[in-house]
Formats: sequence, structure tokens, C-alpha cells
Amino acid sequence: MTLARTPRISILFTVLLLLGGCAATNPQQPGSLAVASAHPLATQAGLRALEAGGNAFDAAIATAAVLSVVEPYSAGLGGGGFWLLQQPDQQTTLVDAREKAPAASTRDMYLDANGEVHPDKLSINGPLAAGIPGQPGAFAYINEHYAERPLRANLQDAIRIARQGFHVDQRYHELAEWRREVMQRYPATRQTFLVDGKVPPVGALIRQPALADTLEALADRGWDGFYDGPVAQQLVSDVQAAGGIWQLQDLKDYTIVERQPVVIHYDDATLWTTPPPSSGGIALAQMFGMMQQRPFDEVFPDTPADDPVARTHYLVEVMRRAYRDRAIYLGDPDYTDIPVKHLLDPAYLGKRMANLKPGQATPSQSLEGDLDSGTHTTHLSVMDADGRKVSATLSINLPFGSAFLSSGTGVLLNDEMDDFAIKPGVPNAYGLVGGEANSIAPGKRPLSSMTPTIMTSDDRTAIIGTPGGSRIITMVYLGLLDVLDGKSAEATVSDPRFHHQYLPDVIQHEPDTFTPEQKTALEAMGYELRDVGRHYGNMQLILRDRESGETTAAADPRGIGQAVVKPVR
Ligand code: DON
Repeated sequence: MTLARTPRISILFTVLLLLGGCAATNPQQPGSLAVASAHPLATQAGLRALEAGGNAFDAAIATAAVLSVVEPYSAGLGGGGFWLLQQPDQQTTLVDAREKAPAASTRDMYLDANGEVHPDKLSINGPLAAGIPGQPGAFAYINEHYAERPLRANLQDAIRIARQGFHVDQRYHELAEWRREVMQRYPATRQTFLVDGKVPPVGALIRQPALADTLEALADRGWDGFYDGPVAQQLVSDVQAAGGIWQLQDLKDYTIVERQPVVIHYDDATLWTTPPPSSGGIALAQMFGMMQQRPFDEVFPDTPADDPVARTHYLVEVMRRAYRDRAIYLGDPDYTDIPVKHLLDPAYLGKRMANLKPGQATPSQSLEGDLDSGTHTTHLSVMDADGRKVSATLSINLPFGSAFLSSGTGVLLNDEMDDFAIKPGVPNAYGLVGGEANSIAPGKRPLSSMTPTIMTSDDRTAIIGTPGGSRIITMVYLGLLDVLDGKSAEATVSDPRFHHQYLPDVIQHEPDTFTPEQKTALEAMGYELRDVGRHYGNMQLILRDRESGETTAAADPRGIGQAVVKPVR
């Protein structure tokens, strides 16, 4: 049991912010190709890239490019994301392709004259909600620095599918229904993604010729094909005509940043994951650190670690404490001093866990004062036969992003500006609150929860990630605990989920996570439970057994994705 076997005070717990991560262990023996993504057409494109001699980085670009066409509700050229790239010797880097706030953005841009949040939800709907996209930059940058094939080869499937069309599936149907009212407002969106203002039926063909042309421009001219020249001019003109504030210079100024991943040592496992401006890596490091400072069997000496009620109680208290620090301290590291060393100090984490009382929920509000207050997404996992690995989580935020499609370029814009704290204490679309560290400023990147992660233990290697807004971090956390417990890829992605994010002070869960008896037991401890009324997440996982070399992969049964493993000899 992962929770029980944790050493009481571990000298192994160190979190390093190092480029290249920890010392290399055995490079991986030649083995299998594996791709897991949220859509079968994207997985097939990734496999084709690998079989045509591309490496994992080529395959990740090919997979993501198709996802940007067939999952317009999740990610695309109008969005951004985080790409964790690992070489066979475990050199690891994080490519930050997160959106940036346009130069004309201001701290209070979503508030009305009375300082209240504008009722039109301008941080969510329409072109004012869009940050400057990083996804096209990620394709160009990763292709130039890490891939083996020309960018055109990696974009060709996406270009073909954008031109010829793809068929509406159940997921498209549901997510478009969710956003239909906003999608109807914008003529190009209506024309491309709806039929007579209604969501097209499953099986209908969606063609995106303007997007195909934009992808062609990227294939021909690389970075400048999007950020400079005719595409950039057209984008800015479409955005401004609809009331947005983008300028040509915003696109010219966009930069990809390579960052040192957060590296976590936990028992015999090493994890590489996302640094700020994602909150995922710091939160995971805090959660694993808290488990080591106050292990389950110290809190519950007489209870088995797989007792569902005690396990939930313990993990929820860990989650709550990490999300509290997220709300206060995390933001874009290029704009905000994040006290990383302090947040990850074992003594601090031990102190945070000291007030966990067995059998009793800790009210979120009681956590104040420990420190001075300083202050529909997608995922793909890829591995090639030489052991290069990619874990990438990509997003345009809510389903169909801002719902604004630039007619001239076919680019559907994100609404990631809502991931900023638009007013201190006011929850965003995921109920997350934030403060100064995550306030809006020109050129700044909004805080994210995207947590693409790679883990290697003595036994297994895992490439894991999922969409799901604020719940991403806890899904990856629970998934990693399952992998450490020896669960199969299938069982890990299928496991029922629960989540706590400090505020609101409730345990959110899927409809079938807890039995009525378990709910009663948790309520008796003071927890409020909130059934979110649907399943959430869309995890894509690749697992490799380090001794046998056997590779397995699984796509979350909640989605329509596909995971494929092919042995190479
Ligand atoms: O970066 C973030 O944290 C969010 N924009 C992710 C949104 C997301 O996962 C939506 N998917 N269900």
C-alpha cells in the first residue's frame, strides 16, 4: 500500500528545480511505441509519425495537431499548454506554451464601474477572454529543437482532416450543447460548428478549410507563419472587429519558455512535472511531501491504508492544504516571487499536517495564518522505442474556449484569461480563488492546473495527465498513487474520483465514488460532500514495467480516446 509503506521521516524527500532532473539511471532498452490520446484519429496520426521514423516529439506534435482539429472543444491553435519532454537518459525539460495576456490588458478589465465582476462574463465568453496563443509556437519550437521530421510532415494529417472534415461524436455533441448559447453569438463559430444554430447530430461532417490554410502557413513558414505576416494580421483584425484588444505586437512578442521541471523524489520513485505558471508540480510536491512528513500509518496506526473512508479523509486533508497555498502564492514566476523553497520545506509541510485530527475534517478557513500572506482541455502521452517520452496537456479552457472563431484564420480562441484571479477572492469558472500572485498584467501567463507528469520507480515508468480544470492536479495525484500501488493502466484511468480544493470547503466527487455508508462516515467527520453529477477527466496513461519491458496504455473510459502500444523488434 502506497500510503502505508511511506517511511516516517524520509531522507529521500527532496524537491529539486533542476534542468535535466535527477541523475540518469538505466537508459530504457529498445521496446515499444505507445500513444494515448483523447481521440482515435489523433492517436493514429501519432503512430504514423513514429512508424515513418519520427521520434516521440514528432509523434506528439502530429497527435496534438490532429487534436486541435477534431477536438475544437478542447485545445487548438487558439490555445496553449505544457509539454514535458524526456530523453532516453532522463534529461527532462518543460516547454511552456501557456497563453500570455495581451499588452492592452489591465488588472481590472473584467470589472464594471462599481468594481464588481461584469455580468457578461467577459473573461469567459468572446474575444476579450482570449490570451495570446502558445500552441502554434509549441509546434514550431518543439519541431525545430527536438523533432526529426519537417514540420509539414507532422502537420499533414491535421491539414488533411481540417480540409476533408471529421465526424461529430457524442463528446462533441455534449460539449457543444453546453456552450451553444455563446457559440451562436459569433457568425463564424455558428457557421463552422453549428447547423442552423443547433448542435449538429452525431455523424455530421465538420470541415474547417480556413484552419487548414492556417496550418499550411505554419507548415510553410514555421513560427512566422502564425505570429507574423498575413495570418497574424487577419487574426488581429478579426479580434479587434469583434471588440477584442489584441495587437500585432502581441503576436510578435509571444515567446515559448523552456523551464526546469519540478522533480520530486518519493520513496523509490522520481517524478518530473510542471513548474509555475502551472500550479500542478508544486501542489504534487507538497502533497507527496506532506504524506512523507505525516504518513497515513502515523495518523491512523490501527487502520489499513486501503480503508476507503480513512484513505479519503487523509488524502482530502492533504489536497486541501496544497490548494490553499496554490490560492495564495502561485502565479507566473516571471512576474511573481514564489516562495518555492519555503513551500516545499519538509519542516513547513510537517507543520501543515500537524493539525490533522483523525476522524475530524479540518475547516478550510482554519488554515489561515500559517504563513504571512505575501502575497475542456486535452492530454496526450507518447513513448518511442528508444525511451523518449512526452506528456502534454493542452487547452483552450472551457469547452470551445471563448466560442469566438476568427473567420479569416479558422482559429477558435481560448478563454484562458479566466484562469487569472479577475478579482481577489472571486472564484473563476472552476471555483478557484486567487490573489495578487495571479492578478492580470500585460504579458503575464495565467496560473494553470495542467499537470503533465512522468514518473519512474524501481518497478515502473508512467506517462500520465488529464484535462479537468482545477481537478486535474488531484486526478493526477490519485492516478500516481494507483500506479505506485501497482494498479494496471486500465484500472488507474477508470478509478472513481474525488477532489478537494480548499475552497469551496467540500469534497467534490463523481456519482459512483462513495457508497451511502462511506458518505455517512465522512459526513460524521464534518465533511460536506458534493456529487458533481457527472464523470470528469479524460486521463491518458502509458505504463512500462521496467524489468520485463512490457508496455501497456489506457485511455480514460469517460472519453472517446484511444491508447495503442506496438512492440518494435
Ligand atoms: O489551465 C488550466 O488550469 C485550465 N485552463 C484547464 C482547463 C481544463 O482542463 C478544462 N477541461 N475540462
